Amino acid sequence: MEKAILIGVQTYTSHSFEERMEEMKELALACDIEICMSISQNLEHPHKKYYMNPGKIEEVKRILEDQECSMVLVLEAISPSVQRNLSDFFDCEVMDKSALILEIFASRAKTKESMLQVECARLKYLLPRLQGSYKHMDRQRGGSRNKGTGEKKIELDARRIEGKIHFVEKELDKIHTQRSVQRNQRKKGMVKSVALTGYTNAGKSTLFNSLTHENIYAANQLFATLDPTLRSLSWSGVGNVVLVDTVGFVRHLPHELVEAFHATLEETLEADLLLHVIDSHREDMHEQIAAVQAVLAEIDNQVPVLNVFNKIDLTGEPPHIGYSETGKPNRVYVSAHEHLGL
Ligand code: GTP
Repeated sequence: MEKAILIGVQTYTSHSFEERMEEMKELALACDIEICMSISQNLEHPHKKYYMNPGKIEEVKRILEDQECSMVLVLEAISPSVQRNLSDFFDCEVMDKSALILEIFASRAKTKESMLQVECARLKYLLPRLQGSYKHMDRQRGGSRNKGTGEKKIELDARRIEGKIHFVEKELDKIHTQRSVQRNQRKKGMVKSVALTGYTNAGKSTLFNSLTHENIYAANQLFATLDPTLRSLSWSGVGNVVLVDTVGFVRHLPHELVEAFHATLEETLEADLLLHVIDSHREDMHEQIAAVQAVLAEIDNQVPVLNVFNKIDLTGEPPHIGYSETGKPNRVYVSAHEHLGL
């Protein structure tokens, strides 16, 4: 395992700071990175150049050397220039939240589509970060007015990456067309589709398994599911339905990733009903619910949502159905693992 230091700035407006720091530890673990120490600083807003104040950054550098850590992780997505300043200053790799999530997505992607999506997101992440990656070459050029070797190399690389992005996007388009043909066929067959959605680790795959009696992969790790998994089943009183398991959400999902996983989310938007699976045992349950709702709003979801409060075996809540003020059932309390309330 690689050893890293986690740094985070707590601003007056930042919510659930501790939980987000904890979540970064889990994300790091999923990338085989061990966090030796977490260092935080209260600031009105992150420092423009170094994320933390220069004095604090000096302290982090000293600790890095003392603890023999080879990496610094940053609690949130930072700009390419801040990332560059930090890695120059620390003289080691600096990964922000987006980079970590990309790593995890890359290692979990299994189908051609998800691999292409991850590739696309990675290239888009890389493009604005090329600047400065060949600085050592430019140092050799002296006072010439021509472009430095490094600069030329960056231009070349950027063009190559843009070409690759274009190619990957075209491949993805083809797959999406196939997918929508399949979806239309399903619609013609009048089969209703129910999509599971929710925060990562909420228990979507476990619920999917319990409902379909299929043994798809459910592991206590983040983003165990990357590709939408579909199963057809017959539900008493409802008829034939297609159940769709989808990728888990995380708070502040970087924009390039929301876009990258559009296909998975698209399955969600095309469903007749969304089951929003919630880990009701977590202290930050409400923040997780809000994070999922925010993304659903962002992709303009119009599909009705039924909240599924999962893991009641841990909370002691009895299995039951909850009703809205107008008397409509709008939430259920279940344990996917213990088959309660299903
Ligand atoms: P992602 O693929 O990351 O989005 O996760 P997921 O939402 O599909 O979660 P998954 O089904 O992989 O479950 C995550 C963990 O929670 C696993 O360790 C499950 O065994 C556990 N889990 C799921 N449902 C329950 C439940 O009802 N009770 C308890 N105690 N644990 C559960």
